[in-house]
Amino acid sequence: MTSPLYAAVLAAGEGTRLGGAKPKVLTPLWGLPAICWPVNAIFGLEPARLDVVVGADSGGIRESVANFALDSSIQVEFAVQSEPRGTGHAVLAAKDAWTEAGSLLVMYGDCPLTSTGLLSALVAHHREVEAKLTVLTTVLDDPTGYGRIVRGEEGHLAAIVEEADADEIIRGVEEVNTGIYVMEVPAVLEDLATVEAGNAQGEIYLTDLVSALCARGAKVSSFQADDCTEVLGFNNQTELAVARALLQKEILAEHLEAGVEIVDPNSTFIDKTVTLEPGACILPGTVIEGPGTVVGAGCVVGPMAHLRAGTHLEPGSKVGNFTETKQTHLGAGAKANHLSYLGDAEVGPGSNIGAGTITANYDGKDKHRTVIGKDAFVGSGTVIVAPASVGDGSTTGAGAIVTRESEVPDGDTWVGVPARPLKKATPPSEDDA
Ligand code: UD1
Ligand code: MG
Repeated sequence: MTSPLYAAVLAAGEGTRLGGAKPKVLTPLWGLPAICWPVNAIFGLEPARLDVVVGADSGGIRESVANFALDSSIQVEFAVQSEPRGTGHAVLAAKDAWTEAGSLLVMYGDCPLTSTGLLSALVAHHREVEAKLTVLTTVLDDPTGYGRIVRGEEGHLAAIVEEADADEIIRGVEEVNTGIYVMEVPAVLEDLATVEAGNAQGEIYLTDLVSALCARGAKVSSFQADDCTEVLGFNNQTELAVARALLQKEILAEHLEAGVEIVDPNSTFIDKTVTLEPGACILPGTVIEGPGTVVGAGCVVGPMAHLRAGTHLEPGSKVGNFTETKQTHLGAGAKANHLSYLGDAEVGPGSNIGAGTITANYDGKDKHRTVIGKDAFVGSGTVIVAPASVGDGSTTGAGAIVTRESEVPDGDTWVGVPARPLKKATPPSEDDA
């Protein structure tokens, strides 16, 4: 029987090179805080438990993992590393989690591109060769910033040397440490406890575990990722932009494979937390954000539309040019084709929202809902000041301002500023004859 698989994600570092006040691992990446990407990849392995190492001020990280990680059946615990004294020190902060023998997968919170498949191949290799520690490496054209892999005469992994501690020859090495490891616990924790902070940063490096194990003749192995893009971290805005672009490509590829039509993937941006049904068509220049956004089959979105959180488009509905939606539900076949803002709105099936319609949902303090019935015709340039409603089959005239708390009855036509029922022409009386 194989021993249990544990996992740890290190997220207690300060991430100062990125600028900004938030911890790096909370950087939003297509609707998910960065740390949720490796967490979700790890969940795919179904580990016995996952321990996330956080810093003293960790509220946001705990909340993010609780709210955005996609599998709630895996036990997630948090260990606090009160001072960021290095990646080795961070692992030791969680050591009480691993008293029973098992294989521990360690990765860093700033590594969003790694797939479950790669992690699983790494674990399989580690178990097959019966190593105490296996390091996932890759080869980069530009290895700047990464720890370099130093190999002994027979090609075995002998040490990892950080950029700041490397001489010119070692800096020339293109094989790097990805920051993803599998190690046998609790055995190697004792070796890690002997690692000292004798380096340029004054930190206890997890990477020094390699030389510590080699020194006592324990088996250390390496496993190379062929596709280096899967293991890129991000330490600055340039690397973050590269990671974002690669993740977006992945998200779009999943939708394309599932049968969503995306006319120009280069100008379409979709959050991970969005559901697109096969048969939806997304036109160029469109941004679709989650959470809770759903686009049904046969819907057409764009060009240049912006769907924000909580937008639900029922099958066959349309949101077109320069239209923004938020917490809005469009019934089947409803259309908002041009220049509109629909926020906190319900639009019934078959209704037509004219060009330039605005739901004024915010009164400066609170947000309010707009309810539009089915088969309504909202004239161009209508402003609906919420809360307000427009009934089934009713019409507003071009430029109407439907004021707060108005309820346009079913089948009525309201026009003007403020909008009032349109007076029907009185039928001619007999005297006029
Ligand atoms: C690390 C590796 C380097 C590797 C690179 C891959 C070390 C010493 N170096 O360098 O070999 O090539 O990742 O991306 O491990 N963290 C803590 N506590 C700390 C310090 C860091 O939890 O005290 C966490 C950070 O939040 C981060 C991760 O560990 O998620 C890595 O830290 P980072 O500062 O990004 O290390 P790198 O310099 O990138
Ligand atoms: Mg890093």
